[in-house]
Amino acid sequence: VTIYVPRDSAALAVGADEVAQALADGGAARGQAVKVVRNGSRGLFWLEPLVEVETPAGRVAYGPVSVDDVAGLLDAGLLQGAEHPLRLGITEQIDYLARQERLTFARMGVTDPLSLADYAAHEGWQGLERALTMDGAAIVQQVLDSGLRGRGGAAFPAGIKWRTVQQATAAQKYVVCNADEGDSGTFSDRMTMEGDPFMLIEGMAIAGLAVGATEGYIYIRSEYPHAVAVMREAIRLATDAGYLGANVRGSGKAFHLQVRKAAGAYVCGEETAMLESLEGRRGIVRAKPPLPALEGLFGQPTVVNNVISLASVPLILARGAAFYQHYGMGRSRGTLPFQLAGNIRRGGLVEKAFGLTLRELVFDFGGGTRSGRPVKAIQVGGPLGAYVPESQWDTPLDYEAYAAFGAVVGHGGVVVHDDTADMAALARYAMEFCALESCGKCTPCRIGSTRGVEVIDRVVRGENRMQQVHLLRDLCDTMLHGSLCAMGGMTPYPVLSALDHYPEDFGMAAPQGQ
Ligand code: NAI
Ligand code: SF4
Repeated sequence: VTIYVPRDSAALAVGADEVAQALADGGAARGQAVKVVRNGSRGLFWLEPLVEVETPAGRVAYGPVSVDDVAGLLDAGLLQGAEHPLRLGITEQIDYLARQERLTFARMGVTDPLSLADYAAHEGWQGLERALTMDGAAIVQQVLDSGLRGRGGAAFPAGIKWRTVQQATAAQKYVVCNADEGDSGTFSDRMTMEGDPFMLIEGMAIAGLAVGATEGYIYIRSEYPHAVAVMREAIRLATDAGYLGANVRGSGKAFHLQVRKAAGAYVCGEETAMLESLEGRRGIVRAKPPLPALEGLFGQPTVVNNVISLASVPLILARGAAFYQHYGMGRSRGTLPFQLAGNIRRGGLVEKAFGLTLRELVFDFGGGTRSGRPVKAIQVGGPLGAYVPESQWDTPLDYEAYAAFGAVVGHGGVVVHDDTADMAALARYAMEFCALESCGKCTPCRIGSTRGVEVIDRVVRGENRMQQVHLLRDLCDTMLHGSLCAMGGMTPYPVLSALDHYPEDFGMAAPQGQ
């Protein structure tokens, strides 16, 4: 009997290793041959450790399973998929999963992340094989036609970025994957690296072929030790199998890939600070232009993309641009893996086409707050994203629709707060976070963030409140328009949205009609 127990950090954190061991031991003690596969996570985090059993009817899920449950589960007939209070039914039919549109995450939790055979059996390498039959410009055209935009948060069209690098002339070009996933409540990059690493490798190899780069780097945040280990092992396996190296699949084209562990600074997720860090220097933001696409790593033309942007490419090449482009709305094409976190009952990963609403995500999928109290505020797009008030919960999640009311979709992180949240304290935290993480290069961010903390304190204490609120808005305006990068430039988003939608938390009158 084959049993699946995830090896994803989210499952390990709640005892997946111990559960896997107990299942293997328990099966053996009962004289049953049990094969335990350590798969990736399905992304249903409130059910982790989620144990699955292969049955003739399909994979049957049980969860959350603790070590103490194992003996009882085995006695009840877990290996036959039998009834038990923890039995969740056929995994694929679990509502949370069944209602998703899993394109990039289609293999997630299904396969053994480090099995080349599993990967190949589930559409793996088909995009790369197709790319190997095309010239660089044709590959770039596919990515352009798919409508794929940067999934790190800025949503810049990936195809235009690739075309810039492809058309540049240089002896050496690079592909750099930004895996310094620092946004609060986000984990889609980590899940991809831990749960489907060959997909990222394949996407990077395709990027290399497209733009003519022979070297690639994956810059992984140091807080992700499991992702670092899985990626390194996957690169070794893919190289041995000829998908990476001096002669990719006998094409005569080279693509070498290596992992670099990041230094633990939020700002190193900013692409130019990351390039500095990769070159061995302190992570300080570089002024743009020049764009990294023209003068990036070691001054050479460089594709810098987030994990999910690159991981979306194999499917686009395998099934064609039109297939991917068909999903989504407006200029936001394809799907986004949304990540539900914070005070939420069913936290986890929800991959859906653009166009669903925050209400659907947080209530239909997430089931509301874990505390059972009313939802007060939802921060979308990381610590620099706006707090989205209830009046916008029915706005479709689309880059342009969010920008229209001063918010961002970003990297798809969704952090929920209940009615005990103090929005003035959260606004203060945004300024404090900026002060702590600022690289110090420009004044609005370096000094503005510290002044911002002080001004919010005065507002809350009621010292010349209206004058101080005016000052805070003025300061935010300076940071928004005068900062060199998104760190200082976006910190006003959470601050102003908190102030605009929850003024009562700052000691002011509540807005009309709310
Ligand atoms: P940006 O708008 O300056 O640039 C977007 C990308 O497009 C960059 O890679 C830039 O080099 C490229 N680009 C722009 N014009 C180009 C052209 N003509 N040709 C080729 N390439 C071009 O945005 P930035 O500052 O890189 O990123 C800010 C975003 O990062 C924010 O939206 C925020 O949501 C996100 N973010 C994500 C985090 C995460 O953990 N994923 C953490 C913090 C911020
Ligand atoms: Fe550095 Fe902040 Fe300026 Fe960005 S905005 S360059 S993090 S000081």
